[in-house]
Amino acid sequence: MQEPLPGGGTVRKLWIGETDAYRDHLLRLDQESRNTRFSGAVSDDFIARHAATATGLGVVVHGFFVDGVMRGGAELRRNGASLGGMLSDGAEAAFSIEQEWQSHGVGTVLLERTLLSARNRGIKHLRMDCLADNRRMQQLARKFEADLSFDFGSVIGEVDPPRPTPLSLMREAMDDAHGVAAKILEDQSRLFGVA
Ligand SMILES: CC(C)(COP(=O)(O)OP(=O)(O)OC[C@H]1O[C@@H](n2cnc3c(N)ncnc32)[C@H](O)[C@@H]1OP(=O)(O)O)[C@@H](O)C(=O)NCCC(=O)NCCS
Repeated sequence: MQEPLPGGGTVRKLWIGETDAYRDHLLRLDQESRNTRFSGAVSDDFIARHAATATGLGVVVHGFFVDGVMRGGAELRRNGASLGGMLSDGAEAAFSIEQEWQSHGVGTVLLERTLLSARNRGIKHLRMDCLADNRRMQQLARKFEADLSFDFGSVIGEVDPPRPTPLSLMREAMDDAHGVAAKILEDQSRLFGVA
């Protein structure tokens, strides 16, 4: 069974209309985390433009939410998604967790969900641009060695998730159902001022 997430947080997919929550999360990252997330320095404007596309075609973002605030994110972006044309069987994945919530197992859950989504979408090659000295990301990826193959020398992790199965599709559907319940609870807590 999965360990409880820190702060009683939940992981669920980002909904249409929640791109502002993703933008605000990315803007809250400390400088070092921002650099490692985007493989270099990027401006606030760049982040705002990037986050605005998070619920577009070919993009799946899982968020880690605590008291209704997004504190971590995992982005699966299919190659060709931004061109609005044919989607390929390759994708890029990127992870971001706010400093206070790092090293508590959140990245592990986000990578697990991202791999499941990739598998269910027939994605064969998943690239994670990961700075060569990002030991934590490398350690995290190694936990999924059965599903991933690495070449950290070239700073890129290639993933070959197997094909979808009825069970893997059902697992994602169940995660989504939990996500809907979690979102309803978040909204109700906010409405009644319990959060
Ligand atoms: C990299 C990142 C996604 C990892 O997520 P996380 O929630 O911090 O990682 P987890 O707690 O799930 O730990 C995963 C593994 O990393 C290793 N790890 C954890 N903390 C570590 C640390 N401080 N130093 C080195 N390794 C560490 C452990 O092996 C751990 O596995 P374990 O829990 O079984 O021991 C997150 O720290 C982050 O967002 N960092 C800033 C942005 C970034 O680097 N993004 C990745 C580029 S796409």
